[in-house]
Amino acid sequence: MEHRHLGRSGLMVSALTYGNWITHGSQVEEDTAIKCVNQALELGITTFDTADIYAQGRAEEVLGRALKDQRRDGLEIFTKVYWPMGSGPNDRGLSRKHVIEGCHASLKRLGTDRIDLYQAHRYDFQTPLEETLRAFDDLVRQGKVLYVGISEWTAEQIAEAVEIADALGFDRIISSQPQYNMLWRVIESDVVPTCADLGIGQIVWSPIAGGVLTGKYRPGAKPPAESRGADEKSAMFVRGMIERTEVLEAVQRLTPIADELNITLAQLALAWVLGRPGISAALVGASRPEQLVENVGALEVTLDDAVLARIDEALGEDVIERDPARTAMMSPNPRP
Ligand SMILES: NC(=O)c1ccc[n+]([C@@H]2O[C@H](COP(=O)([O-])OP(=O)(O)OC[C@H]3O[C@@H](n4cnc5c(N)ncnc54)[C@H](OP(=O)(O)O)[C@@H]3O)[C@@H](O)[C@H]2O)c1
Repeated sequence: MEHRHLGRSGLMVSALTYGNWITHGSQVEEDTAIKCVNQALELGITTFDTADIYAQGRAEEVLGRALKDQRRDGLEIFTKVYWPMGSGPNDRGLSRKHVIEGCHASLKRLGTDRIDLYQAHRYDFQTPLEETLRAFDDLVRQGKVLYVGISEWTAEQIAEAVEIADALGFDRIISSQPQYNMLWRVIESDVVPTCADLGIGQIVWSPIAGGVLTGKYRPGAKPPAESRGADEKSAMFVRGMIERTEVLEAVQRLTPIADELNITLAQLALAWVLGRPGISAALVGASRPEQLVENVGALEVTLDDAVLARIDEALGEDVIERDPARTAMMSPNPRP
C-alpha cells in the first residue's frame, strides 16, 4: 500500500482509504462489514473514514467493533460532525456545544480515546467560524483530536478559516474532503489550487461515482442485483447518474481504454483520481471484500497524458460537471 502525506501535514494516509457511508449499519450486514474491514487491513489500508451521521451513529459503532483488536497506533481513524444527530436545536451544526459534544459521542461509539482527523462535514452559516475553529483547537489541545479537516467547503471558506486560525494561533485545517471523480470535477478550478497554496490535501469521496464508473449500470438495463442502484435506501445517491442514459453510455465508451491497459473500469477511475494534482487519498466504499481487492490494483497504474486525453474525449463534456459553484450548494443555509 502506498501512503501519502495529508497535505503539508506530517500525517500519512493510505492512498486508498476505506469509507463506510451507506454500507455499515445500513446496506450491508455486520459480518460483511467486518469482512470488508479485515480485507482492507490485509491489503494495507490503514485509514478509515466515517461520520456521526452515517446510519445515525451505527456506522461508527460497527467500525469501532471491526477495528477493536487492531493496534490503534497503526490506524488513522477519521470522522465528522455537522449533520443533525437529534431533534434539538443544538444537536447539529458547528457550534462549540455541538462540536465538543459530538466529539465525545463519536469517541464513545468508535471505542477510542482519540480521533486522528475530525472533519466539519459541511460549512455552518449559523455559527461564527472563529467559534468553530476554537472548539476544534480545544479538542486538539486536549488530545481528543489529532488533526482537523473540512468537507465540501468552498475555496473562499477554506481560505478564511486558515486566515482566522493563523491570526489566533489555532491549529490549521490539513484536509478537504470533496466529491471528485471523472464525472464530477468541480474542485479543479478553485478548491484544489487554493488548498495547494495553503498546504491542504484532498481526500476525495465517491472516486468511482458510487459504482457508476465501474460500468456495471448498463444503458436501458435494470441496476444489477445487490448494487447501490438496486438498494431501496441507497439508490437515491446514484439515481441522478444511472437515470441519465448519456452518462451510462459515456462510461461504456471508457471500456476499450481500460481493456487496452489490461485493467478494469474501477481501476481506471481510481488511477485517474489518484494521479490528479493535490489528491492525498481516494476514499473508497465497498459492499463486499472482492471489490477492495480489485480496486487496490489501481495503485499499480499510471495514466499518461495521451490516456487522460482519450478519457476526456470518450466521456465528452456534456456528462462532466465542472462548475465550482456546485460546492457552495453542498452546505445548506440555514442549516438543516
Ligand atoms: N464528506 C462527504 O460528504 C461524503 C459523502 C459521501 C461519501 N463520503 C465518504 O466517501 C466514502 C466513499 O464513498 P462511496 O461509497 O460513494 O465511494 P465509491 O468508491 O465511489 O463507491 C463505492 C461503491 O461502489 C461499488 N463498488 C466499489 N468497488 C466496486 C467494484 N470494483 N466493482 C463494482 N462495484 C464496486 C460498491 O457499491 P455496490 O456494490 O453496493 O454497488 C461500493 O459500496 C464513504 O464511505 C464516505 O467515507 C463522504
